[in-house]
Amino acid sequence: MSKRKKVMLVFGTRPEAIKMAPLVHKFKAEPETFDVQVCVTAQHRQMLDQVLKIFEIVPDIDLDVMKPGQDLFDVTTKVLQGMKDIFRYDKPDIILVHGDTTTTLATAVAGFYEGIAVGHVEAGLRTYDLSAPFPEEFNRQVASKVTRWHFTPTENGRANLIAERVADEFITVTGNTVIDALHWVLNRIDADDERSTRLEESLDLTLPFNWRIDRFVLITGHRRENFGEGFLQICEALCELASRFPKVHFVYPVHLNPNVQNPVRKILGGLSNVHLIEPLGYEPFLWLLKQSHVVLTDSGGIQEEAPSLGKPVLVMRDVTERPEAVEAGTVELVGADKARIVAGVSRLLEDDVHYAKVSRAHNPYGDGKACDRIMDVLRNS
Ligand code: UD1
Ligand code: UDP
Repeated sequence: MSKRKKVMLVFGTRPEAIKMAPLVHKFKAEPETFDVQVCVTAQHRQMLDQVLKIFEIVPDIDLDVMKPGQDLFDVTTKVLQGMKDIFRYDKPDIILVHGDTTTTLATAVAGFYEGIAVGHVEAGLRTYDLSAPFPEEFNRQVASKVTRWHFTPTENGRANLIAERVADEFITVTGNTVIDALHWVLNRIDADDERSTRLEESLDLTLPFNWRIDRFVLITGHRRENFGEGFLQICEALCELASRFPKVHFVYPVHLNPNVQNPVRKILGGLSNVHLIEPLGYEPFLWLLKQSHVVLTDSGGIQEEAPSLGKPVLVMRDVTERPEAVEAGTVELVGADKARIVAGVSRLLEDDVHYAKVSRAHNPYGDGKACDRIMDVLRNS
């Protein structure tokens, strides 16, 4: 009997967990080929645990690195050192990392130091500006340098990698695993009336308005380059929008980072049509996304999910590594700039013709079979 491949999937934050979860399930379904381990760094704690619970994943290893108010040095050193010990003890044949977080960077570097083959999921995204997003552009470029198998969501990612002299034979265009995750979650809710009822009841308790009928804007924000002045501009824009559109609701699940919590709660707390809530589980978040009118975000993952649900997205950044939906018109860049945010949201709320034009559902990020394509490559490697 041929030896099973020892694969370790490593992730640490909410978005990595969402996008790696369907892949974990695929590996677990092939025990005859793969000896799979899930290692979480827990760079995020509560927001990671929410995702693990929804996808019913129990990690084999948990580094538990998060501390409140951590900085890049804290996370990088803890993950790098932690992965050294794990890799030396468990000796995986292959490690799989995702995207561009500090967990990704430190794990990929640790794998490189230990001579372990690295597979990079969501490879090839670029802005070519190391300050935006910071430090993610640096993280993903370094990850690419030490990666053997580059799993990129789109042809655009492939072109970036080829321009960086990565050999085409090691690049696979897969689509984004976020679409696999989205299908997995929405299909499970659709198939289970009790589950959807429970979900809707929990949203009724969380939101003090009729989210099934009333118009609302869904907001998220957490980018480091927006800390300080950027978040002030974002909050002031929301204040102005809330007063200009008193019948519209603004729902903002606030990221747990204190650099976000502090200004957001200080400036926006107490406005009657702005609802600052805890980060939502992935199921209720997707349910609200489906129901929302407009999405205002600086998130990467939401730029991918919202177009497939036909929701217009205003991105509070000046550049994006996800140009596909901008080209298609569903995503518009408005920066962390008060005037542009107010103008962008107002137009979507007031101009029905414009709204209809940009709110078509389309999906540049895949068909929900990204994980199958990754499995095909690793099965035959
Ligand atoms: C991280 C990633 C970013 C990713 C984002 C997704 C880096 C450098 N940043 O940013 O690429 O887009 O996650 O959300 O890798 N916190 C909690 N509980 C949690 C999560 C965070 O309390 O479950 C608080 C803690 O105070 C923590 C702080 O948020 O110290 C910052 O977390 P960190 O992972 O360092 O940065 P993010 O801004 O979340
Ligand atoms: N998300 C969630 N609950 C929330 C906000 C977002 O489950 O309250 C999900 C969202 O659907 C997306 C992911 O978290 O899949 C995005 O995470 P985040 O914006 O923190 O990180 P990024 O994608 O920018 O790295």
